[in-house]
Order: sequence, then C-alpha cells, then structure tokens
Amino acid sequence: SAPESIFNRFPLRMVHGVPLMEPIAQNWQRIEEFQARPDDLLIATYPKAGTTWMQEIVDLINNGGDVEKAHRAPTYVRIPFLEICSPKPIPSGVDILEKTPSPRTIKTHLPFQLVPKSFWKLNCKTIYVARNAKDCAVSFYHFDKMNVTQPEPGTWHEYLQKFMEEKLSWGSWYDHVCGYWDEKDKHRILYVFYEDIKEDPACEIRKVMQFLEKDLREEVLEKIVHHTFFQVMKENPMANYTSMPSFILDHSISPFMRKGEVGNWKHHFTVAQNEAFDAHYQRKMMGTTLKFRTHI
Ligand code: A3P
Repeated sequence: SAPESIFNRFPLRMVHGVPLMEPIAQNWQRIEEFQARPDDLLIATYPKAGTTWMQEIVDLINNGGDVEKAHRAPTYVRIPFLEICSPKPIPSGVDILEKTPSPRTIKTHLPFQLVPKSFWKLNCKTIYVARNAKDCAVSFYHFDKMNVTQPEPGTWHEYLQKFMEEKLSWGSWYDHVCGYWDEKDKHRILYVFYEDIKEDPACEIRKVMQFLEKDLREEVLEKIVHHTFFQVMKENPMANYTSMPSFILDHSISPFMRKGEVGNWKHHFTVAQNEAFDAHYQRKMMGTTLKFRTHI
C-alpha cells in the first residue's frame, strides 16, 4: 500500500485555464485522450453539487432497485472518477476505467470544455447535477477541510473570496454550471438541480429513470426514493465515504454527509458577505437564462 505521506494537500496547476490538482494536471494527456464507449453514462457536476447522491440514484436504477447489489462496493468503486489521479503506485481513474467492463457509469467534475472529446463524438448520455452557488461554496469549504488532498482552505472568508475569484479546484462554478447549460440541447445531457431533487425526489428520479430508458414499477421507484434520502445514505457505509482511509478523508473534522440541506449557507454567510456575493453573482450570471433557488 502507498505511504500516507503522498496524500498531502496537492497544489493546483492550470490546465487550459482551469486549476486542477497537480497529479491530475500531470496526467492530463491521458485524460484528454480518454476513449469513451457509446454506452458510457457520464455523471458530471461541479464539486459538492450532489454527485454522490446522483451516483446512488443511478446505480439503484441500473440495478432495478436492488439495494443488496448497490451495497456491493463503495460509490467510488462502483462508479469510477474519470480524472482522479494520485502519485504512483495508486491507479488513476483512467487506469481503472480502461479495465472496467461496459456499460460504464463514470463520474467527472471536469467543466464541459475539458471533458474528453470522445464522449461528445459518440453522443454519450450525461447527467449534470447543479446546485446553487452558496450551498456549493459552503459544502466545498467543509470538504476541503476534511480532504487532505485538496489545498488548505484557510478561513471561511478567504475561501469565499477564492470561490468568487474562481481559484478553487476544478475552477469556476459560474463557468461550470453555464457551460453545461449552454450545451445541454446540443448533446444528450439531462440537467437536474439539487434543489429539485430535495424538494420532490420521486419526480426527479423518474426523470433520470426515463432518461436511462428504464421502466421501473412505482414501488421500485419509491424504494429508490427511500434509499437515497440523506439520512439513509448518511448511515450507508457504501455511500457515505467512511470506507476511505482517514488519512485521506478525515470525518472527525467534518463528515462527508454533512447536512444535505438547501439553504445551509445562511448559517455561514454574514450579511456583508451575502451582499458582496450577490452583487458579484449578478455580474457573472448576467447573460444566462439559468436560474437557481437558494432556499425551498
Ligand atoms: P453538504 O456538505 O451541504 O451536506 P458531492 O457528492 O457532489 O461531493 O456533494 C456532497 C454534498 O451532497 C454534501 O452536501 C452532502 O451532504 C450532500 N448529499 C449527499 N447525499 C445526499 C442526499 N441523499 N440528500 C441530500 N444531500 C446529499
């Protein structure tokens, strides 16, 4: 097994204008040249938008609601993470995916323009989950504190500045959500919102089911709704990331399944931070039809 010391707050390096963790930047050529297959399903998100939640929903749908099958392995084994990369000898996401039999479901945080072109050439299906910027920033802050591979987050105030300046891992939230939004009708992209899944999980899960062309009975859908509730996933060791070594994810600092709410940002933003954020947000999101809800 690898020495713990290789997982040590990697610096960020620019890849085509997007800051990525150094091992990802070093492996960039292989990621860029990654060969998709026509029946691949991509789950794309900005970090902390509800990736793990959608992974669990998709895996349950693909297994016809069979909870035992979904318990076969942790999320990150069932659905490999395309660009993730650690120093050798840890296999990269690309290494693992090349050996994964089809049909594959693949996680990525890459912005649209950095996704390997083969996915779009082959017209692969993509599910994009978007979450409002304020809750995303708060969730990412707590995650960066507990995830020792990410740069040191600093104070919440410093972190929020970095979010607005688009200097966090995987870059700009604004460009990310708008990038997929602008492309969604040109490709097979299902664009869903964290806030909508929270408000009406059955309705959003049904959309995913239809997108995947799976016809599950209503009681199976209800079972999937139950199994993907926050509290149920928080207690599921195959979904809550507690199986990762604690020298990588330290749940004593902040659990991966932290709050699972819409509007938790209200406990973190000061009035002044909120005003500055809103003014900056308006400028950044001026030209788009994309609208988010920050409370439900
Ligand atoms: P919080 O930190 O706000 O609690 P990702 O999987 O993209 O890293 O996102 C993690 C965020 O999604 C965390 O947000 C986590 O608690 C939340 N989450 C995970 N599963 C969830 C679920 N079943 N329902 C609601 N939120 C969930």
